[in-house]
Amino acid sequence: MAEYVVEFGKDGRPVEADGRLDAAAFHRNREPILAVLAGLLAGRSGDALEAGSGTGQHIVAFARQHPDLVWWPSDFNEAHLRSIAAWRAHAQLGNLQPPQRIDLADPSWSVAGAEGREPGALSAIFCANVIHIAPWRVAEGLFAGAGRLLRSDGLLILYGPFKRDGHHTAMSNAVFDTSLRAADPEWGVRDITEISGLANAVGLGLRETIEMPANNLILVFARAAPA
Ligand SMILES: C[S@@+](CC[C@H](N)C(=O)[O-])C[C@H]1O[C@@H](n2cnc3c(N)ncnc32)[C@H](O)[C@@H]1O
Repeated sequence: MAEYVVEFGKDGRPVEADGRLDAAAFHRNREPILAVLAGLLAGRSGDALEAGSGTGQHIVAFARQHPDLVWWPSDFNEAHLRSIAAWRAHAQLGNLQPPQRIDLADPSWSVAGAEGREPGALSAIFCANVIHIAPWRVAEGLFAGAGRLLRSDGLLILYGPFKRDGHHTAMSNAVFDTSLRAADPEWGVRDITEISGLANAVGLGLRETIEMPANNLILVFARAAPA
């Protein structure tokens, strides 16, 4: 069964002296996610936000793979923000901005400028393994921000386990869902139909669903074509 982490660094994994935290899942998920992003983000430039960056390990890999995008990490957990900053300092990449505190539960969240650069309308927003380990209002806030901040050809890319038409895609996800709801009744594996409803309400539509290892999916949302 999948396991979830609310705060990295408290799960017995190594913590570097400079604050870099390590997520076990990162090592399993990195290559499959990078392979999909390579296709989705090919040829793109501009600004890309990661919402709920966690340790910061993923966004370092994204920035390395996509040097034409400027990457903006974010989270709302202070230990995670310190870890992201430490991974950024360790990686020394010119296209990786400092982390910033964004609470997705606030529907008016925005991306602040940093180090003399103001983010433009976003080319992409990536968000992995966040909306099932958070209340539904976090998903609502994520989409509210995506609707406001994505540029006309921008993409919102979600990674994680999802239900389809009210059904789990695997028994392991059903068990995982039960464990999430036991930890917090406001958490739970989200249904693609309900998520698409949030997207539609802000002018986005589900463009692509990509099967990933271990019964995860990548969902790609883009602005709906005008009627
Ligand atoms: C399971 S971790 C996933 C981290 C990372 N995306 C990954 O896949 O390794 C969930 C992350 O969502 C963040 N998070 C939870 N609620 C949030 C909120 N309301 N706003 C922003 N981030 C949030 C947590 O702090 C944590 O870093």
